[in-house]
Amino acid sequence: MIARHSSICCGFAAVLALGALAGSADPIDSPPQGPSLPTVWDTSHNAFGRVLPNAKPTDAERMHDGKRVFVRTWRPAGEGPALVDGLGPLFNAESCVSCHFKDGRGGPRATPQPTPLLVFRLDPGAEAHGWGEQLQDRAVGQAPEGRITINQRMILGQYADGTGFQLREPVYRVLGTKNQPRLSPRVPPTLVGIGLLESIAEATITSWADPEDRDGDGISGRARWLTSDTGRRLGRFGWKASQPSLDRQVAAALAEDMGITSIHRPGAAGETEIAETEITETEITEPEITAADFALLIDYLRLLAPPARRQGTETTVVQGERLFESIGCAACHRPRLITAAANKIAGPAALAEQTIEPYTDLLLHDLGEGLADDNIGEAGVETGEWRTAPLWGLGLMQTVNGGLYLLHDGRARSFEEAILWHGGEAQSARQHFLQLEEDERTALIAFLETL
Ligand code: HEC
Ligand code: HEC
Repeated sequence: MIARHSSICCGFAAVLALGALAGSADPIDSPPQGPSLPTVWDTSHNAFGRVLPNAKPTDAERMHDGKRVFVRTWRPAGEGPALVDGLGPLFNAESCVSCHFKDGRGGPRATPQPTPLLVFRLDPGAEAHGWGEQLQDRAVGQAPEGRITINQRMILGQYADGTGFQLREPVYRVLGTKNQPRLSPRVPPTLVGIGLLESIAEATITSWADPEDRDGDGISGRARWLTSDTGRRLGRFGWKASQPSLDRQVAAALAEDMGITSIHRPGAAGETEIAETEITETEITEPEITAADFALLIDYLRLLAPPARRQGTETTVVQGERLFESIGCAACHRPRLITAAANKIAGPAALAEQTIEPYTDLLLHDLGEGLADDNIGEAGVETGEWRTAPLWGLGLMQTVNGGLYLLHDGRARSFEEAILWHGGEAQSARQHFLQLEEDERTALIAFLETL
């Protein structure tokens, strides 16, 4: 099912991506906000592909070049110029943009019911199937690892005022195997402002952590520490904060999602380890993506601007923003912060000391059983733990991606559903939401739509 969708999606994505390339050269519409936020006013379907307004012209040029790598369709090794292509043997999609549709979220799949494009992470038990960390549903020269079916379970509930609501819980199965692996479904996240998130000082994020809940507010929040040869670093990318930097995140994406080797990941999905004696010099020095293209891809991501907020002064929106604070949403979805100094960040100076409004603390929170995945495999993170999702740009997802696919597996079709799935540390915020009057709920959602 996913494979069939992917090919529909990718052809479509390639066409629109070219539109976005042209779009990025358009003049920027009148920005309604003060110059202090590095946002771009664009309410069109190109809203997520804009360059940071304070980027230097040379940075903007590199971003333009980087976009070509981002939208590029990779072919299997041997079909293209030698050592330039290298898709597969196992993969999920043949370009970055086919999953991060217009720099946004995995778009709808063309099945009878629109469902989001998903990637399935696997636990180590899956090795018994000969599978790695991720289920690859496409392949060249060999069979794909598996296909997934999704069934929905309906859950009914009620607000305090008696209004009913309906949630749908997805149930995933790998087709054609009795021995079901444990799955952790993940929808491709929106990439706006991702370089700014990379530029937040570790100390800023850890200052919000309260793993033992010493202040007794029911919200703990903990930093995800990842250790490597270069030392201990804070995890901040991916739905479970699995990667510490854009370099590492993109190397993982290339290897796991596309089967492409890079300087940071010499092995990719389905590629057998090459015995030492067989390694030729070319194989050591030439990864499938060149170091120059890899660097362009990183620059591209780093310079993606967050969109400017819209209709910020309407009364309902102001009321909604107050409710967001007062019922406890802002305790995790931190509205405002400042990025680190220029000498402390990896990217260009445009990312330093910026006041940003990402609505996240980048910490892990336990959101309870309802959202827990089935993956006991990812070391150092519990099944119910998720990184607070940044909320910036969500109000434009409908425009850019043609649908709302909220939460880590895109199960929520509306802001309301997304909130109602919150539990665990967010249980109190959810309870408060259930107690709100209808006009207050409308106001809170009107506020989220301006982000
Ligand atoms: C098959 C679909 C797929 C492809 C292809 C893909 N990604 Fe992703 N991407 C994802 C998913 C799913 C996640 C979330 C991963 C997780 O939760 O661990 C993700 C996460 C990311 C993130 C982190 C976002 C965040 O908010 O933390 C970045 C950056 C990223 N991808 C960039 C890329 C780039 C660059 C490429 C091309 C080299 C690429 N991706 C290709 C599916 C994909
Ligand atoms: C205890 C921390 C916490 C609190 C409190 C909290 N959230 Fe969240 N929120 C999260 C985490 C973690 C996720 C990601 C969960 C997932 O994807 O499974 C999330 C996801 C979301 C999403 C979906 C984002 C996306 O990219 O799909 C929305 C919308 C949202 N929260 C809104 C709210 C609102 C509104 C409130 C207040 C009623 C709230 N949250 C309270 C931690 C919190």
